[in-house]
Amino acid sequence: MARLLSGGPRTHGTSRGSVPLAPRLPRPDDSRIVATIRVYEEETDARAVGRLIADTFGRYNLSHFPPVERDLFLGPFRHATSDDPAHRAEIARMIRSEIVLVADDAGEIVGVLRGRAERLGSLFVRGDRHRGGIGRALVEWFEKLAWLQGGRRVHVAATPYAVPFYLAVGYKRSTGARRMKVFEGSNYLYQPMKKVLAPTGDGSELGASACARAQAARR
Ligand SMILES: CC(C)(COP(=O)(O)OP(=O)(O)OC[C@H]1O[C@@H](n2cnc3c(N)ncnc32)[C@H](O)[C@@H]1OP(=O)(O)O)[C@@H](O)C(=O)NCCC(=O)NCCS
Repeated sequence: MARLLSGGPRTHGTSRGSVPLAPRLPRPDDSRIVATIRVYEEETDARAVGRLIADTFGRYNLSHFPPVERDLFLGPFRHATSDDPAHRAEIARMIRSEIVLVADDAGEIVGVLRGRAERLGSLFVRGDRHRGGIGRALVEWFEKLAWLQGGRRVHVAATPYAVPFYLAVGYKRSTGARRMKVFEGSNYLYQPMKKVLAPTGDGSELGASACARAQAARR
């Protein structure tokens, strides 16, 4: 497991274009340890991850849509708090991917990244933990695993909100902004971005376990 320590004082980046800045959050004096990055376990994590995705996507990426449209973009995640086994199974199925990492703070999931060797599929960090280095740590571990699985570049369909974040962690815009379908919602604005990977040290500990899960997910 990767223990993530926060670095020195964080400065607030400058927003680019019309993408809003995340609010600056007070740094707790007593905790230098921000979260542990580990591989997702469907049986124990699916419910918390489903809620995290629904809350974060709804709040940061869909809040400007009317509720009906928001539900279309959320797809099965609109049922993230439901106890219906069919809803829970569908959400667990949607989370599945070759690489799924979570940021775990003493048993609470505060971030999730899903992807495969050449594609970062989705990334969400709980709102009250934004600007704490969790997104960067998830991406760094994902890139190590992607490299181990043969990925040499990573593509991502970035939300407008996340463009400054991806620029900060080394991604570049690959074309102009585009629109896509997300679940039953259409015309969602996104920015295609990519990064060419370089060998990044040893991710073997996390890598071995993620590769085993990737094989299980393919079966
Ligand atoms: C995008 C997101 C995952 C970033 O996670 P995070 O943990 O807050 O990011 P980090 O703290 O690791 O940020 C790393 C750097 O990115 C930049 N950055 C992050 N968020 C930023 C923002 N809102 N505005 C400007 N720069 C930002 C900063 O340079 C930051 O370093 P700093 O805090 O030392 O200045 C998070 O904001 C999120 O969950 N957003 C909502 C969901 C979303 O849009 N996901 C993307 C799907 S493709």
